[in-house]
Order: sequence, then C-alpha cells, then structure tokens
Amino acid sequence: METADPTSARVLELGCADGGNLIPMAWYLPKARFLGVDRAAGSLATGRAIADRLALSNLELRQADIADLDPASLGLFDYILIHGVWSCVPFAIQEQILRLCGACLAPQGIAYVSYNTLPGWHPRSMVRDFLRYHTRLIRDPAIRLAAARGLLERLGGAWEGETPLAQYLSHEIEELRHAPPGYLSQEYLEENNQPILFVDFVARATQHGLCYLAEAELHTLFPSTLSAGARALVESLEDPLEQEQHMDFLRYRVMRKTLLCRAGAPKRQPIDPMRMREFAVSALLSPVQWVDLTRTIPEDFVAPDGVHFGVTHPLTKAALLYLAKVYPDAVAYPALETAAIERATTAGSTHGCVTQLAEELFSLYAHRAIRLATAPETVYHAIASRPRTHALARAQASAHLGHLATARHTVLDIDPLAAQLVQLMDGTRTLEELVAELLVHLAHRTARAVVKGQPAALPQDGELLAGCKHLLKLFAQHGLLEEPREA
Ligand SMILES: C[S@@+](CC[C@H](N)C(=O)[O-])C[C@H]1O[C@@H](n2cnc3c(N)ncnc32)[C@H](O)[C@@H]1O
Repeated sequence: METADPTSARVLELGCADGGNLIPMAWYLPKARFLGVDRAAGSLATGRAIADRLALSNLELRQADIADLDPASLGLFDYILIHGVWSCVPFAIQEQILRLCGACLAPQGIAYVSYNTLPGWHPRSMVRDFLRYHTRLIRDPAIRLAAARGLLERLGGAWEGETPLAQYLSHEIEELRHAPPGYLSQEYLEENNQPILFVDFVARATQHGLCYLAEAELHTLFPSTLSAGARALVESLEDPLEQEQHMDFLRYRVMRKTLLCRAGAPKRQPIDPMRMREFAVSALLSPVQWVDLTRTIPEDFVAPDGVHFGVTHPLTKAALLYLAKVYPDAVAYPALETAAIERATTAGSTHGCVTQLAEELFSLYAHRAIRLATAPETVYHAIASRPRTHALARAQASAHLGHLATARHTVLDIDPLAAQLVQLMDGTRTLEELVAELLVHLAHRTARAVVKGQPAALPQDGELLAGCKHLLKLFAQHGLLEEPREA
C-alpha cells in the first residue's frame, strides 16, 4: 500500500503509557506529529518530564480514557498504534478502539493492533487460571505479584505425569519466571485478558469500516516455514484469511500484530520483494565464523539478541558484512547492491545474481533480521576525544528507565552505572575523566553496575576503563553519540 511518509506523518497511540514508543519517534522525526493517549497519570508524568526536557513540540501526551475520545475532535492520522492494550481492556473499549481506527484513519492510513490470539492462549489460560486462583484473596497488586512469583517458583516440574501437556506447562512456567513484572501482572493476573481468533478479530474490524492489510511480523504470512503436510493443507485453501487462520491453528499462535487499513484503500497483491529496491537498508548481523564469499553455501549470522540466521548467497553475505560495518546507517538499496557486488567480486566470487540478493534480503526483512527505512541515513558514530551522548539518551538515562532507545528504534538495556556514564558524556570530559568521575559516584554509591539483578562488586583497577571503552563502542554502534560542540 502507498502510505504516508513517516518523517512527516501524523501518529496516534492509544494506551501510550510513559511514551516509551512515541518519545524516541518524536525526537528522531521532528517533522512528524504525535499524540499519545493514556488514562494513567503516573506513567504520563514520567513521559512528560522527558518530553519537556527535550522540548518536543511535535508530541502531546494526553490524559484521557479511550472511552471518552471523540473521533471528530481527534482528526485524521496516518498511523494509529495500539500495542499491549486491546486484549486487556473490556469489550466496550475494544469496540471503541476499532471505532476510533475506522473514523480517524487517513484514506491511506494504517492501524497497528497487537492482541492475544487463540488457539495459543488455550493452554496458557490454564496457567493464568491457576495464578489467578492462587492469588484471588490478595488485594494489594505488589503482594499479589509476589505470591504469583512464589507459585511459579514452586511449580516447574510439579505437574502430574510425563505427558506432553505437563512438559508444555513446565516450559510455560519457566518462561514466565523470567518475564518482566508488568507483563506477568497484565497478562496473567488482571481481570481482562480476552484472546480471540484471528478471523473473529478481522470480522469485528470489518464492522468499523476497516480491512485486514497484513501482519507486522511479515514472515508469519508465508506458509513456507510449515511442514510439507501443513503447507499443502494451507495452500489448498483459496481465501487468504482462511489460510492465515489455519496457520494460526497449526502454529498454535499466541499473539498477532495486525495491520488494518480503511476498507476500499487500494492495496497491491501479492507482496513484491523487488520493491525493496525503493528503500534504504540497515542491519547488525555478525558472521559466526569467517565467511566464504565465493560459494553458495549456508553460513550463520547472528543478531544482537542471539537469534541466528542462515545466509546462502555470496552477495547477501557481502551486503550483510557491509551493513554491519556502517551500522546504524541506512544504505540506499542500489548503493548496497553495488557495495555487495564489489566486495564479493574482490573476494573472487562469480555468483552475482542480484535477484537472489533481493529475495534473500527480503526473507531476512520478513524475519526482522534487517530493517528498511524510507530514506538513506548516515548516523554519527565516531568516538570523539571528549565524547557526547545525544539529548534523548541523556534524558532517558536521567529518568532511570533502565534502557535507551537506539537510532533504529530498538531498546538498549543499561544498568545504573551505564546510565550515569551516559549523563556524564556531555562532551566536556575525556575517557579518563569520565572514569575518574564514575569512581567518585561508585565510592558514594550513587551508581552501581548490576550483574544478574544484583549490585556488582566495586570494579578493580582497569576494569572500569575497559568497561567504559566497551560502552562507548556500544553507544557509537547504536547511534547514541553526536558530534561534540566547539568549546
Ligand atoms: C500494558 S500497557 C501498554 C503500554 C504501551 N502501549 C506499550 O506497549 O508499552 C497498557 C496501557 O493501556 C492503558 N489503558 C488501559 N485501558 C485504558 C483506557 N480505557 N483508556 C486509556 N488508557 C488505557 C493503561 O493505562 C496502560 O498504560
């Protein structure tokens, strides 16, 4: 679909909490306009403090109940975002969300809605029922959460028998033990959690003048990852919605991130990988070992989150090596193609099929291993003698969020010591001076590194310098630095 240019778009987020999603977008896209709505005053106050510090004139964080929003007074939006909200609100609010999307989407607008799905939530609901039952008499949310965590610790392999169901539940419990507190509370303890079949969600959206466009996690649209039998079943169905619903059953899917547009908005079908050539590409995938650029054999690349991707074609491998070197820059596709051909040819490759490059890059894009941007972008990533973090990083670090938003809209987790370093990096201190100041903070216990959730021991001589050098490289790699200003 032809959509609005994100750099100048109008964006609405319903249930924006502390603006963790909108603030970085508003900061990186100063010509776009953003409205976030939430009813939680505390979360909004945190977000407003950061937004005020950054003097963001293109962002409004509004306190309101979704139920009270009047579509006519909101106007039209190119993008409407509803993440982590739909399943945890009552039916009437869900209907209001769809009504607002139907009324407030611009003609070429896209709404993103994440929601819990069936059938994947059937077995999960057994764990939820158990946790809710076990904690049913506790009113205080913090004590209730602690009791739920206590139950999770005691469960594990406690299920009866060696059945596949018992194994599944044990696996779920193990995952939940490591889940963030907010997720555990919202999904497993709160009253509302209403998973839904994909086709039922689409039917409800249709009643509000909306139409299913695609999934944000693009790879789930394709049956190619299913077994041969399952694939044959899915491909025997003609209706694309039926195909997707069947895939949800076959993959026992637990969640969707669905894109909706207005009914009747012109869409192009099918998806054409060659349209990637109109975009700019960024990626941070590292080869697991030395890469052979002369042979068409699968080789392993790994993303920062540890997920591995097999890459087969020499041009794709060369493109990924180039993108990792210039990350977080977004490189115009034709320039990337040229760089990949040069690199592969220099290495002695004679396998230079640009169609295969596009197809393999598209597959990596569909699996979220690489990112597309509407325009090329060169990000400052030098480490100056007196390095300076940009204002967004410093504002987020001072708000003690525990993470920073990167230039590619990913999350970089940081501990209090790293947060202190980010704030000290205002372009006035050398690396040695930063280390000296951090030592003062450590001595006064105003900042501590954290290891496995516990405050770390005071660093030995040299350890802090090495740690800071590592962090500086990480900040540079994620586009969190800017050119120091002239003295
Ligand atoms: C789990 S949070 C998701 C926050 C954010 N979208 C994210 O992904 O991080 C759900 C948010 O929806 C908000 N919310 C729930 N019901 C609401 C309503 N009726 N009106 C406004 N906000 C609501 C809550 O206050 C909360 O901040």
